[in-house]
Amino acid sequence: MNADGRTRLNQTPEWTSLAKHREELGEVRLRELFAADSGRGAGYTLQVGDLHVDYSKHLITDETLRLLRELAAATDVFGLRDAMFRGEKINTTEDRAVLHTALRAARDAVVEVDGENVVPAVHTVLDKMSAFAEKVRSGEWRGHTGRRIRTVVNIGIGGSDLGPAMAYEALRSFTDRELAVRFVSNVDGADLHEAVRDLDAAETLFIIASKTFTTIETITNATSARDWLLAELKAGPDAVAAHFVALSTNAEKVADFGIDTANMFAFWDWVGGRYSFDSAIGLSLMIAIGPDRFREMLEGFRIVDEHFRTAPAESNAPLLMGLLGVWYGNFFDAQSHAVLPYSHYLSRFTAYLQQLDMESNGKSTGRDGHPVDWQTGPVVWGTPGTNGQHAYYQLIHQGTKLIPADFIGFAEPVEDLLPGLVSQHDLLMANFFAQTQALAFGKTPDEVRAEGVPEELVPHKTFMGNHPTTTILARELTPSVLGQLIALYEHKVFVQGAIWNIDSFDQWGVELGKVLAKRVEPALTEGAEVAGLDESTRALVAKYRELRGR
Ligand code: F6P
Repeated sequence: MNADGRTRLNQTPEWTSLAKHREELGEVRLRELFAADSGRGAGYTLQVGDLHVDYSKHLITDETLRLLRELAAATDVFGLRDAMFRGEKINTTEDRAVLHTALRAARDAVVEVDGENVVPAVHTVLDKMSAFAEKVRSGEWRGHTGRRIRTVVNIGIGGSDLGPAMAYEALRSFTDRELAVRFVSNVDGADLHEAVRDLDAAETLFIIASKTFTTIETITNATSARDWLLAELKAGPDAVAAHFVALSTNAEKVADFGIDTANMFAFWDWVGGRYSFDSAIGLSLMIAIGPDRFREMLEGFRIVDEHFRTAPAESNAPLLMGLLGVWYGNFFDAQSHAVLPYSHYLSRFTAYLQQLDMESNGKSTGRDGHPVDWQTGPVVWGTPGTNGQHAYYQLIHQGTKLIPADFIGFAEPVEDLLPGLVSQHDLLMANFFAQTQALAFGKTPDEVRAEGVPEELVPHKTFMGNHPTTTILARELTPSVLGQLIALYEHKVFVQGAIWNIDSFDQWGVELGKVLAKRVEPALTEGAEVAGLDESTRALVAKYRELRGR
């Protein structure tokens, strides 16, 4: 404890031991670690549900893992975890419980918030969503002119967009291919324009997804979508009911917008936006894949929830992944973390994780209100692996930065892949395995020379290796496996926030930009004198107006 009565994370004995251990490890080489332990590849693995997690290619020893677990114990990660599952208000700056885990709780489970079991309400909404999804899928739900729905357009942003958009791509092969789902998020009118320009309004259903129902991008797009629909149908406001539904916690605002609250699917303030995908926010996905598949996905989430809640520290996958991130971020100064899926269907997965991780742990104030003086959340980035190989992998292999990476791959291609394309899967996965090997073990100058490479090119063709990766392998990308993957990352992010002593469930950092945008807009449109504009921004606004001929 310091003179000011605070215990700082980076002055705890557990942290200091890790820093000392890091020094002792020095330039530890993965080649040496594997040479010293022939069972390392098989030993440093975990199984959680259908996910096989291999963490052998990390710059760690048994001692590292022991010390990291001690840090987790000292920061009471499991204590905070239990408080979260119990429904305690661990989101202290917003005074809210954090209960996305209740969204996938079994029907007979009991999870209380302020003394009330929230699980029955969760299942009431799921049942209402299921009935609605079936009506749309079967064609029973009709548009204003009596035609069935062929396209669903989800309008939302952040957590009200990224989850369903990612999962719709991920589970394409499970979707009803006769029913298209599109996603509009950007307030740039181009987004909505491209989404609706070739649609028949009579066959289009808009889902307005917004937890608060006040988000300017979403409400603006929703209003424009309503105008478009009514103009296309040459109809009055009574046409809205058959073409607009809302997903929100804010019934009053939904009604103000003109959507019948009978067509609203609710969720609750104990669900954070970026944790809301398995709430009503998933309605577009449920329409696409059907309620049964959606419930399979929820079961996948639940498998990992149970694992995180009950597995001991030694075999707890989210704990381990969180600790590895702490190890590199805080003791190797790694600034970023790459997530590289070897599945085209996971093309939006990393974008989804960006919000999950960076909006949760991009914080510099501790839960105690004091600045933290240790690194917190990493920059999360990445795209499907093989494409990345021909773009930015050069930097991972031979650049100057340490970039820990997660490789996610599947043994089987999706079931409905054209038979002629199935053989490509082995080629895809050969790349998957080859890359983690190359990253870990590289190619020494002697190995390069042995290939007859001229001496002046040897340094250029040498691969230093020692780039740490986690490999996550599953048999197939199913709804359940997707749920498992998402829950794995949700809980990993939780672990890191707990250790760094930050509130992973607020997002005050997005507010200032919103306020300033509101303030600047009249300067753009009317040339209004806006108080508080700095000199640079004032000049840029003037230039913008000039370019727009205003
Ligand atoms: O501005 C950030 C944010 O609040 C996210 O946390 C959230 O997911 C997104 O905006 C959308 O919010 P809403 O669902 O309330 O429209």
